[in-house]
Amino acid sequence: PIPVILDCDPGHDDVFAIWLAAGNPALDLKAITTVSGNGYLEHTTHNARVACTVAGITGVPIAAGAAEPLERKLTPGTWIHGENALGGPELPEVTVPLDERSAIELIADTVRASAEKITLIPTGPLTNIAHFVRTYPELLERIERIVWMGGSTGRGNCGAAYAEFNAWADPEAVDVVLKSGIDFTMVGLNITHQALITQDVRSRIRNLGNETGVFGAELLEFFCNSYNDVEGMPDGPLHDPVAVALVIDAAVATTVHTRVDVELVGTETAGATCVDLHDMLKREKNAHVAIDLDVDRFWNLVTDAVAGLK
Ligand code: BDR
Ligand code: CA
Repeated sequence: PIPVILDCDPGHDDVFAIWLAAGNPALDLKAITTVSGNGYLEHTTHNARVACTVAGITGVPIAAGAAEPLERKLTPGTWIHGENALGGPELPEVTVPLDERSAIELIADTVRASAEKITLIPTGPLTNIAHFVRTYPELLERIERIVWMGGSTGRGNCGAAYAEFNAWADPEAVDVVLKSGIDFTMVGLNITHQALITQDVRSRIRNLGNETGVFGAELLEFFCNSYNDVEGMPDGPLHDPVAVALVIDAAVATTVHTRVDVELVGTETAGATCVDLHDMLKREKNAHVAIDLDVDRFWNLVTDAVAGLK
Protein backbone atom coordinates (compact mmCIF):
# COMPACT_ATOMS: atom_id res chain seq x y z
CA PRO A 1 0.00 0.00 0.00
CA ILE A 2 0.94 3.64 -0.56
CA PRO A 3 2.08 5.31 2.68
CA VAL A 4 0.14 8.54 3.22
CA ILE A 5 -0.36 11.26 5.81
CA LEU A 6 -3.69 13.06 5.85
CA ASP A 7 -3.53 16.69 6.99
CA CYS A 8 -7.07 17.92 7.58
CA ASP A 9 -9.49 20.33 9.26
CA PRO A 10 -12.60 18.21 9.98
CA GLY A 11 -15.19 19.31 8.78
CA HIS A 12 -17.81 16.98 7.32
CA ASP A 13 -16.01 16.11 4.10
CA ASP A 14 -12.67 15.77 5.90
CA VAL A 15 -14.26 13.04 8.04
CA PHE A 16 -15.06 11.11 4.86
CA ALA A 17 -11.48 11.71 3.69
CA ILE A 18 -10.24 10.10 6.92
CA TRP A 19 -12.59 7.16 6.46
CA LEU A 20 -11.58 6.66 2.84
CA ALA A 21 -7.86 6.86 3.66
CA ALA A 22 -8.21 4.42 6.57
CA GLY A 23 -10.73 2.14 4.90
CA ASN A 24 -9.18 1.54 1.48
CA PRO A 25 -6.56 -1.23 1.29
CA ALA A 26 -4.49 0.58 -1.35
CA LEU A 27 -3.41 3.14 1.26
CA ASP A 28 -1.38 2.81 4.44
CA LEU A 29 -2.58 5.73 6.58
CA LYS A 30 0.48 6.52 8.70
CA ALA A 31 -0.74 9.63 10.53
CA ILE A 32 -3.47 12.25 10.73
CA THR A 33 -2.54 15.86 11.41
CA THR A 34 -4.94 18.70 12.03
CA VAL A 35 -5.02 22.37 11.14
CA SER A 36 -7.44 25.20 11.79
CA GLY A 37 -9.80 25.98 8.92
CA ASN A 38 -13.37 24.77 9.02
CA GLY A 39 -13.15 25.40 12.75
CA TYR A 40 -10.69 26.47 15.42
CA LEU A 41 -7.87 23.99 15.97
CA GLU A 42 -9.42 22.58 19.15
CA HIS A 43 -12.54 21.69 17.17
CA THR A 44 -10.85 20.25 14.09
CA THR A 45 -8.53 18.18 16.28
CA HIS A 46 -11.38 16.90 18.39
CA ASN A 47 -13.35 16.08 15.24
CA ALA A 48 -10.48 14.04 13.78
CA ARG A 49 -10.59 11.96 16.96
CA VAL A 50 -14.38 11.69 16.64
CA ALA A 51 -14.00 10.42 13.06
CA CYS A 52 -11.60 7.69 14.22
CA THR A 53 -13.68 6.82 17.28
CA VAL A 54 -16.88 6.38 15.29
CA ALA A 55 -15.20 4.24 12.64
CA GLY A 56 -13.07 2.17 15.01
CA ILE A 57 -9.81 3.46 13.52
CA THR A 58 -7.09 2.79 16.09
CA GLY A 59 -3.33 2.94 15.96
CA VAL A 60 -3.10 5.92 13.61
CA PRO A 61 -1.39 8.78 15.46
CA ILE A 62 -3.27 12.11 15.45
CA ALA A 63 -1.39 15.35 16.13
CA ALA A 64 -2.50 18.97 16.21
CA GLY A 65 -0.81 21.60 14.08
CA ALA A 66 -1.23 25.29 13.35
CA ALA A 67 -3.94 27.26 15.14
CA GLU A 68 -3.56 30.26 12.82
CA PRO A 69 -2.65 30.83 9.16
CA LEU A 70 0.93 31.97 8.38
CA GLU A 71 0.15 35.68 8.14
CA ARG A 72 -3.61 36.17 8.21
CA LYS A 73 -6.25 35.81 10.85
CA LEU A 74 -8.40 32.70 10.86
CA THR A 75 -12.05 32.98 9.83
CA PRO A 76 -13.39 29.50 10.61
CA GLY A 77 -15.78 28.04 8.01
CA THR A 78 -18.65 27.77 10.46
CA TRP A 79 -21.27 28.97 7.95
CA ILE A 80 -21.03 25.59 6.22
CA HIS A 81 -19.81 23.28 9.00
CA GLY A 82 -21.50 24.74 12.11
CA GLU A 83 -20.01 26.21 15.30
CA ASN A 84 -18.07 23.05 16.23
CA ALA A 85 -17.11 22.41 12.57
CA LEU A 86 -19.07 19.14 12.65
CA GLY A 87 -22.72 20.10 12.96
CA GLY A 88 -25.46 17.48 12.76
CA PRO A 89 -24.98 14.26 14.71
CA GLU A 90 -24.41 14.04 18.43
CA LEU A 91 -20.68 13.51 18.88
CA PRO A 92 -19.49 10.54 20.95
CA GLU A 93 -16.86 10.68 23.70
CA VAL A 94 -13.54 10.22 21.96
CA THR A 95 -11.60 7.06 22.73
CA VAL A 96 -8.54 7.58 20.53
CA PRO A 97 -5.62 9.54 22.02
CA LEU A 98 -4.00 12.75 20.87
CA ASP A 99 -0.29 12.44 20.08
CA GLU A 100 1.92 14.74 22.15
CA ARG A 101 3.98 15.83 19.16
CA SER A 102 3.08 18.78 16.98
CA ALA A 103 1.76 18.04 13.50
CA ILE A 104 5.04 18.88 11.80
CA GLU A 105 7.05 16.79 14.28
CA LEU A 106 4.74 13.86 13.61
CA ILE A 107 5.08 14.36 9.85
CA ALA A 108 8.89 14.57 10.17
CA ASP A 109 9.13 11.46 12.37
CA THR A 110 6.85 9.51 10.03
CA VAL A 111 8.80 10.55 6.95
CA ARG A 112 12.12 9.59 8.61
CA ALA A 113 10.80 6.23 9.77
CA SER A 114 9.35 5.19 6.41
CA ALA A 115 11.40 3.14 3.95
CA GLU A 116 9.22 4.44 1.13
CA LYS A 117 8.58 8.08 0.27
CA ILE A 118 5.41 9.48 1.83
CA THR A 119 2.46 11.03 0.00
CA LEU A 120 0.91 14.01 1.78
CA ILE A 121 -2.83 14.56 1.33
CA PRO A 122 -3.84 17.93 2.75
CA THR A 123 -7.57 18.63 2.76
CA GLY A 124 -7.52 21.97 4.57
CA PRO A 125 -5.50 25.18 4.48
CA LEU A 126 -1.83 24.42 3.69
CA THR A 127 -0.48 26.02 6.88
CA ASN A 128 1.00 22.84 8.40
CA ILE A 129 2.56 21.77 5.13
CA ALA A 130 4.15 25.21 4.69
CA HIS A 131 5.60 25.01 8.22
CA PHE A 132 6.93 21.55 7.42
CA VAL A 133 8.55 22.81 4.19
CA ARG A 134 10.23 25.68 6.03
CA THR A 135 11.31 23.67 9.08
CA TYR A 136 12.58 20.45 7.48
CA PRO A 137 14.08 21.29 4.07
CA GLU A 138 16.29 18.18 4.34
CA LEU A 139 13.19 15.93 4.39
CA LEU A 140 11.45 17.29 1.30
CA GLU A 141 13.11 14.75 -0.99
CA ARG A 142 11.42 12.05 1.13
CA ILE A 143 7.99 13.29 0.06
CA GLU A 144 6.62 11.40 -2.95
CA ARG A 145 4.04 14.05 -3.76
CA ILE A 146 1.35 16.32 -2.38
CA VAL A 147 -2.27 15.88 -3.48
CA TRP A 148 -4.25 18.82 -2.10
CA MET A 149 -7.96 19.50 -2.02
CA GLY A 150 -8.06 23.22 -2.55
CA GLY A 151 -8.06 25.96 -5.15
CA SER A 152 -10.17 26.13 -8.28
CA THR A 153 -9.68 26.55 -12.01
CA GLY A 154 -12.77 28.74 -11.95
CA ARG A 155 -14.68 30.54 -9.29
CA GLY A 156 -14.64 30.43 -5.51
CA ASN A 157 -16.90 29.39 -2.66
CA CYS A 158 -16.29 31.35 0.48
CA GLY A 159 -17.89 34.68 -0.02
CA ALA A 160 -15.00 35.67 -2.28
CA ALA A 161 -15.84 35.42 -5.97
CA TYR A 162 -12.59 33.76 -7.03
CA ALA A 163 -11.03 32.05 -4.01
CA GLU A 164 -11.70 28.55 -2.76
CA PHE A 165 -11.88 28.30 1.05
CA ASN A 166 -8.65 26.36 1.78
CA ALA A 167 -6.64 28.69 -0.47
CA TRP A 168 -8.40 31.81 0.78
CA ALA A 169 -7.77 30.86 4.43
CA ASP A 170 -3.99 30.81 3.95
CA PRO A 171 -2.78 31.98 0.51
CA GLU A 172 0.80 32.49 1.72
CA ALA A 173 0.96 28.81 2.67
CA VAL A 174 -0.16 27.82 -0.84
CA ASP A 175 2.65 29.98 -2.23
CA VAL A 176 5.26 28.34 0.02
CA VAL A 177 4.14 24.86 -0.99
CA LEU A 178 3.96 25.68 -4.72
CA LYS A 179 7.55 26.97 -4.54
CA SER A 180 8.84 23.98 -2.55
CA GLY A 181 9.58 21.91 -5.64
CA ILE A 182 7.55 18.95 -4.32
CA ASP A 183 5.42 17.25 -6.97
CA PHE A 184 2.01 18.92 -6.50
CA THR A 185 -1.52 18.03 -7.54
CA MET A 186 -4.43 20.42 -7.07
CA VAL A 187 -7.88 18.92 -6.62
CA GLY A 188 -10.00 22.05 -6.78
CA LEU A 189 -13.64 23.06 -6.72
CA ASN A 190 -13.88 22.57 -10.48
CA ILE A 191 -13.65 18.81 -9.94
CA THR A 192 -15.07 18.43 -6.42
CA HIS A 193 -18.30 20.02 -7.61
CA GLN A 194 -18.73 16.89 -9.74
CA ALA A 195 -18.87 14.80 -6.52
CA LEU A 196 -22.41 15.77 -5.63
CA ILE A 197 -24.07 14.17 -2.62
CA THR A 198 -27.34 13.20 -4.27
CA GLN A 199 -30.27 11.78 -2.36
CA ASP A 200 -29.28 8.43 -3.83
CA VAL A 201 -25.77 8.70 -2.37
CA ARG A 202 -27.17 9.63 1.03
CA SER A 203 -29.50 6.62 1.07
CA ARG A 204 -26.73 4.32 -0.10
CA ILE A 205 -24.52 5.38 2.79
CA ARG A 206 -27.28 5.26 5.39
CA ASN A 207 -28.39 1.83 4.17
CA LEU A 208 -24.95 0.36 4.69
CA GLY A 209 -26.40 -0.01 8.17
CA ASN A 210 -23.12 0.11 10.13
CA GLU A 211 -22.42 2.81 12.75
CA THR A 212 -20.08 4.70 10.46
CA GLY A 213 -22.65 4.79 7.67
CA VAL A 214 -25.44 6.03 9.93
CA PHE A 215 -23.21 8.72 11.47
CA GLY A 216 -21.97 9.61 7.99
CA ALA A 217 -25.49 9.98 6.65
CA GLU A 218 -26.28 12.43 9.45
CA LEU A 219 -23.18 14.42 8.57
CA LEU A 220 -24.23 14.51 4.91
CA GLU A 221 -27.74 15.65 5.82
CA PHE A 222 -26.40 18.64 7.76
CA PHE A 223 -23.79 19.43 5.11
CA CYS A 224 -26.32 19.37 2.25
CA ASN A 225 -28.69 21.59 4.23
CA SER A 226 -25.86 24.09 4.71
CA TYR A 227 -25.07 24.06 1.00
CA ASN A 228 -28.71 24.55 0.22
CA ASP A 229 -28.95 27.53 2.57
CA VAL A 230 -25.64 29.14 1.61
CA GLU A 231 -25.17 28.31 -2.07
CA GLY A 232 -28.62 27.17 -3.16
CA MET A 233 -27.27 23.66 -3.86
CA PRO A 234 -29.45 20.88 -2.37
CA ASP A 235 -26.80 18.23 -3.18
CA GLY A 236 -23.58 19.57 -1.70
CA PRO A 237 -20.15 18.55 -3.06
CA LEU A 238 -18.07 16.08 -1.01
CA HIS A 239 -14.76 17.84 -1.70
CA ASP A 240 -12.02 16.28 0.39
CA PRO A 241 -12.31 12.55 -0.39
CA VAL A 242 -11.74 13.34 -4.08
CA ALA A 243 -8.06 14.04 -3.29
CA VAL A 244 -7.78 10.75 -1.39
CA ALA A 245 -9.54 8.86 -4.18
CA LEU A 246 -7.09 10.20 -6.75
CA VAL A 247 -4.18 8.76 -4.74
CA ILE A 248 -5.95 5.39 -4.47
CA ASP A 249 -6.81 5.19 -8.16
CA ALA A 250 -5.44 7.55 -10.80
CA ALA A 251 -8.32 6.56 -13.10
CA VAL A 252 -10.74 8.42 -10.83
CA ALA A 253 -9.87 11.71 -12.52
CA THR A 254 -8.10 13.22 -15.49
CA THR A 255 -5.36 15.73 -14.76
CA VAL A 256 -3.45 18.32 -16.77
CA HIS A 257 0.12 19.45 -16.15
CA THR A 258 0.06 23.21 -16.03
CA ARG A 259 1.03 26.35 -14.12
CA VAL A 260 -0.63 27.40 -10.87
CA ASP A 261 0.08 30.62 -8.99
CA VAL A 262 -1.82 31.99 -6.04
CA GLU A 263 -2.96 35.59 -5.69
CA LEU A 264 -1.45 37.13 -2.55
CA VAL A 265 -2.22 40.82 -2.91
CA GLY A 266 -5.49 41.22 -4.85
CA THR A 267 -7.99 43.49 -3.15
CA GLU A 268 -10.86 41.37 -4.49
CA THR A 269 -9.08 38.14 -5.34
CA ALA A 270 -6.67 37.18 -2.52
CA GLY A 271 -6.41 33.42 -2.38
CA ALA A 272 -7.51 32.88 -5.98
CA THR A 273 -5.55 30.13 -7.71
CA CYS A 274 -4.56 31.31 -11.18
CA VAL A 275 -4.45 28.16 -13.30
CA ASP A 276 -2.83 28.86 -16.68
CA LEU A 277 -4.73 26.17 -18.60
CA HIS A 278 -3.99 27.76 -21.98
CA ASP A 279 -0.31 28.48 -21.27
CA MET A 280 -0.70 32.22 -21.66
CA LEU A 281 2.20 32.99 -19.33
CA LYS A 282 4.75 30.56 -20.75
CA ARG A 283 5.93 29.84 -17.22
CA GLU A 284 7.38 26.54 -16.06
CA LYS A 285 4.63 24.02 -15.30
CA ASN A 286 4.48 23.40 -11.57
CA ALA A 287 1.29 21.45 -10.85
CA HIS A 288 -1.03 18.70 -11.97
CA VAL A 289 -4.61 19.93 -11.90
CA ALA A 290 -7.53 17.53 -11.66
CA ILE A 291 -10.26 18.16 -14.23
CA ASP A 292 -12.82 15.39 -14.82
CA LEU A 293 -14.16 13.00 -12.20
CA ASP A 294 -15.34 9.44 -12.82
CA VAL A 295 -18.33 9.96 -10.54
CA ASP A 296 -19.40 6.32 -10.15
CA ARG A 297 -15.87 5.12 -9.51
CA PHE A 298 -15.52 7.82 -6.85
CA TRP A 299 -18.72 7.00 -4.95
CA ASN A 300 -17.94 3.28 -5.10
CA LEU A 301 -14.61 3.93 -3.40
CA VAL A 302 -16.27 6.04 -0.70
CA THR A 303 -19.11 3.64 0.04
CA ASP A 304 -16.87 0.56 -0.02
CA ALA A 305 -14.54 2.20 2.50
CA VAL A 306 -17.38 3.20 4.83
CA ALA A 307 -18.93 -0.28 4.53
CA GLY A 308 -15.67 -1.84 5.73
CA LEU A 309 -15.44 0.30 8.87
CA LYS A 310 -17.23 -0.17 12.19
C1 BDR B 1 -12.92 22.94 1.31
O1 BDR B 1 -13.30 23.84 2.36
C2 BDR B 1 -13.87 23.13 3.42
O2 BDR B 1 -15.12 23.65 3.73
C3 BDR B 1 -13.98 21.69 3.01
O3 BDR B 1 -13.66 20.83 4.10
C4 BDR B 1 -13.02 21.54 1.87
O4 BDR B 1 -11.73 21.15 2.32
C5 BDR B 1 -13.80 23.19 0.10
O5 BDR B 1 -13.64 24.50 -0.35
CA1 CA C 1 -11.36 20.33 4.52
